Amino acid sequence: MRRILLTGAAGMVGTVLADLVPREGEIWRLSDLRPIEQPAKGAFEVMTGDLADQAFAMALCKDVDAIIHMAAVAREKDWDELIGPNLVGSINLWQAAVANRVKRIIYGSSNHAQGMYPVGMTVRTGDGYRPDSRYGLTKMFGEGLARLHADKNGVKAFVIRIGSFLPRPTSERHLRMWISHRDMAALVRLGLEADYHCETVFGISDNSRACYDNSRAHTLGYRPEDNAEAYADGIAHEVVDPANPVDVLQGGHACGRDFTGSLARLLEDILPERS
Ligand SMILES: NC(=O)c1ccc[n+]([C@@H]2O[C@H](COP(=O)([O-])OP(=O)(O)OC[C@H]3O[C@@H](n4cnc5c(N)ncnc54)[C@H](O)[C@@H]3O)[C@@H](O)[C@H]2O)c1
Repeated sequence: MRRILLTGAAGMVGTVLADLVPREGEIWRLSDLRPIEQPAKGAFEVMTGDLADQAFAMALCKDVDAIIHMAAVAREKDWDELIGPNLVGSINLWQAAVANRVKRIIYGSSNHAQGMYPVGMTVRTGDGYRPDSRYGLTKMFGEGLARLHADKNGVKAFVIRIGSFLPRPTSERHLRMWISHRDMAALVRLGLEADYHCETVFGISDNSRACYDNSRAHTLGYRPEDNAEAYADGIAHEVVDPANPVDVLQGGHACGRDFTGSLARLLEDILPERS
């Protein structure tokens, strides 16, 4: 029996993954700070606790083959709310994974690790980080942990920079970044099965307006079934203010919050990379 640990199992993504991804021959260990509702069918264990507690993280990883790490504070907050879950929690989890010889970790990173790129540019996984928030920066740190422990300790890492995980897209931004429930489940299954060392892919469906080049995921075998464009007719066109970072940059509202810099200077810095 292969044991798979899912952190953040009570969350929006975790609940769907626990429902759609498990297969026969697997025991899933569901974990969260909050109470977890177990899916109706499948083999599950539940362990609730705080990943910022090192002893809890160590116990959680015992006899585990693979981890799907989704636990986090999943939006912009002050540092004191992000440091425990997103930094200390991830440090503890990877340390425990190394100590327990876990073979692979699938990590739920975010589009906000690269949110300061302009709308209209196709971002590649190899493009530099441009976090748009403290939250995005914590995801960049998590990706660093993934790389460190793949290179140094042989824990394979499958980093998914998730776009917008929703039942259906409801804004123009979502038309670029949406990932459907079933495509997210397929991407996580790929992370559980494929052969790689440390890979980064984008967590988006096959969107016609995608702002990402997801060719690495496709090469590894990702075959998304959904396209946000199917919902485009029901989505209102938004008027773009070229002076507003919320409209011009991919991270949207996260980019506008606390923005005191120069948008023109930022774009000057980014765009020559592609010319
Ligand atoms: N939902 C999206 O569109 C989206 C987009 C980009 C990235 N992500 C990432 O995907 C992951 C899942 O997102 P979500 O939308 O399900 O978020 P969510 O807030 O619904 O779920 C996160 C879960 O993590 C748990 N958690 C938080 N701190 C913890 C701790 N210290 N110890 C144990 N558990 C803890 C929470 O209780 C929560 O149930 C997150 O890492 C998020 O950053 C999500």
